[in-house]
Amino acid sequence: MVDIILAGGFGKLGQAIQLGLKNTDYRIVGILSGHQHESTYPVWTTREAIDVKADIFLDVSTPKTVFDNAKWAIAHDMLLVVGATGLSDFEVDTLRQTATRGVLIVPNFSLSAVLLMAFAQQAAKYFPDVEIVETHNPKKVDAPSGTAIQTAKLISEARSTIGAKTTEGPARGMRVEDIPVHALRLPGYIAQQSVLFGGADEQLTLTQSTTSRTAFVPGVLRALGGVHELEGLAIGLDKVL
Ligand SMILES: NC(=O)c1ccc[n+]([C@@H]2O[C@H](COP(=O)([O-])OP(=O)(O)OC[C@H]3O[C@@H](n4cnc5c(N)ncnc54)[C@H](OP(=O)(O)O)[C@@H]3O)[C@@H](O)[C@H]2O)c1
Repeated sequence: MVDIILAGGFGKLGQAIQLGLKNTDYRIVGILSGHQHESTYPVWTTREAIDVKADIFLDVSTPKTVFDNAKWAIAHDMLLVVGATGLSDFEVDTLRQTATRGVLIVPNFSLSAVLLMAFAQQAAKYFPDVEIVETHNPKKVDAPSGTAIQTAKLISEARSTIGAKTTEGPARGMRVEDIPVHALRLPGYIAQQSVLFGGADEQLTLTQSTTSRTAFVPGVLRALGGVHELEGLAIGLDKVL
C-alpha cells in the first residue's frame, strides 16, 4: 500500500479522488482541509496538526493554499503531486529548487485532454492552419482556459510553418501564439475542447470533453504511480505516461 495525505479532500475534485482511490493500491491516511469535516479519515485543518507519515502528498486544495502545502510536503520528505492550480512561475521555481524527490505538477488530470494536446502537436506539423474552441460552465472565471492556452503554445512550438494570417475582428477569438482561441461559457457543460485544423480540401477536428470530475481519477492514479520515477520537479501528466 502507498500512503497518501490528501490536501483539499473535501472539495469537488477531492471528493472524486476519495472515491476513486477506494479499492486501489493507494491508501488515504488523512485529509488536510480548510475546515473540519465528518470523515472516516483523520482530518486536519492545519499542517502542524498532521501526525502521520505518508509516501505521497497529493494537493487539490486551492490556489491560495497550494504553495505553502507543497513547501511543507517537500520539507517533510514526501513525494508530491500537485493538482491545484494557481502556482506562479516564481513559486514553481522555488519548488523546483527545493525538490529533493519527485514533484509532479499536473495542470490537467484528464487523459483525453492530455492526449488531445499530444495529437494536436502531431497534426500541427502537417496542418499549420488551426483554431481552438473551448466550452466550459459559466462558473469558470478564467477565459480562455489554461488548457486552451497550453494547447495553443504546444501547437505553435510544433508547427513547422506558421499558419496563414487569419482575419481580425470581435468574433475572431483571442490570439494565443497567433492561434485564434474561442471560449464559450454555457450551462450544461463541464469542460470541452476542440482543435480544428484546415488543409487543402480537407479538415481534421480533434475533440475531447469531460462530463464529471470522475474523469480526472485515472489521471490522478497515473500521477501517483509515476511520481516516484521523477528526479526533481516535472510539469504535466504526459511526463508519467
Ligand atoms: N489538475 C486538474 O485536472 C484539476 C481539475 C479540477 C480542478 N483543479 C484544481 O484543483 C483545485 C480544487 O478544485 P475544486 O473544484 O475541488 O475546488 P473546491 O471545491 O473549492 O475545493 C477546495 C478545497 O480546498 C480546501 N482547503 C482550503 N484551505 C485548505 C488548506 N489550507 N489545505 C488544504 N485544503 C484546503 C477546502 O476545504 P474546506 O471545504 O474544508 O473549506 C475545499 O474543500 C483548484 O485549484 C482547481 O483549479 C485541477
